[in-house]
Amino acid sequence: MPLVTTTEMFKKAYDGGYAVGAFNVNNMEIVQGITEAAGELRSPVILQVSNGARNYARHAYLMKLVEAAVIEYPDVPIALHLDHGSSFELCKSCIDGGFTSVMIDMSSKPFEENIEITRQVVEYAHARGVVVEAELGTLEGVEDEVVVESGQASYTRPEEVEEFVTRTGCDSLAIAIGTSHGAYKFRPEQCTRNEKGILVPPPLRFDVLEEVTKRLPGFPIVLHGSSSVPQEFVQMINQYGGDMPDAIGIPEEQLRQAARSAVCKINIDSDIRLAMTATVRKYLAENPSHFDPRQYLKPARQAVKEMVAHKIVDVLGSDNTI
Ligand code: G3H
Ligand code: 13P
Ligand code: ZN
Repeated sequence: MPLVTTTEMFKKAYDGGYAVGAFNVNNMEIVQGITEAAGELRSPVILQVSNGARNYARHAYLMKLVEAAVIEYPDVPIALHLDHGSSFELCKSCIDGGFTSVMIDMSSKPFEENIEITRQVVEYAHARGVVVEAELGTLEGVEDEVVVESGQASYTRPEEVEEFVTRTGCDSLAIAIGTSHGAYKFRPEQCTRNEKGILVPPPLRFDVLEEVTKRLPGFPIVLHGSSSVPQEFVQMINQYGGDMPDAIGIPEEQLRQAARSAVCKINIDSDIRLAMTATVRKYLAENPSHFDPRQYLKPARQAVKEMVAHKIVDVLGSDNTI
């Protein structure tokens, strides 16, 4: 099948109590690792491209890599999505260039400005069969060109969501309930220690999610910043020459709980980066004379596949849904 929008996949995910994984792609190995896992596990998948990825790999290369995956996995519903579109022009360029879904992220702007620009993108996208994700509330960390300083993040205000969705016509809504981007989601002093001495971050605001869902029944909700920062990979990075102290993510049980609710799309990028980097560091440390990139990118690609397979089965619950 050709690239699809997220409409059908979100409807099935909502009704089936699971979420579809949205994984960021930057190069061939990442596209291959993700789609191989989705193909084997019979799961739909969203491949998403940030503006940074587009600047790095360039639009035409990314399009062709994704088109190749569509050919390799003809049964898998694959959506190609712009992650954190920061302007109407960027969204337009991706819509005109073959994406089936775009995010317009005006979450750092005042409510009325967010509505106005989101509405413009929706009008342009819908006229071309493309769907739009918007965002209300802000996440800490770097969202491409948007940097939200620590302490400046704000949870989504449930009382705003109906008006926002009605006036913009957006197809899905990203909300802020305590997740954030990157591998350092919480400072150690924000966490408590469990009986094993492991740092446990404050729980996600499921009360906010519940309130949003009540006001938007049946409407697909999106969670950004949903990497769990597996400590085995952080330790592997540190063991083989890296330095990532206090990297802390979102516990997977909480994401599994979110996936059973109105959350239909869960964004995961940092965990893939960690798995790749840890694998490459270990490989090169153990094979100091190797210099053929295929030698270390092959296990790195396998690590991406295993990470995505784990997320599909244990976090998203989207396996065997196609
Ligand atoms: O939310 C941002 C994604 O993790 C993409 O990150 O802007 O470094 O490509 P990037
Ligand atoms: P992570 O940094 O938690 O992987 O979040 C990715 C994301 O939200 C991409 O939009
Ligand atoms: Zn994001």
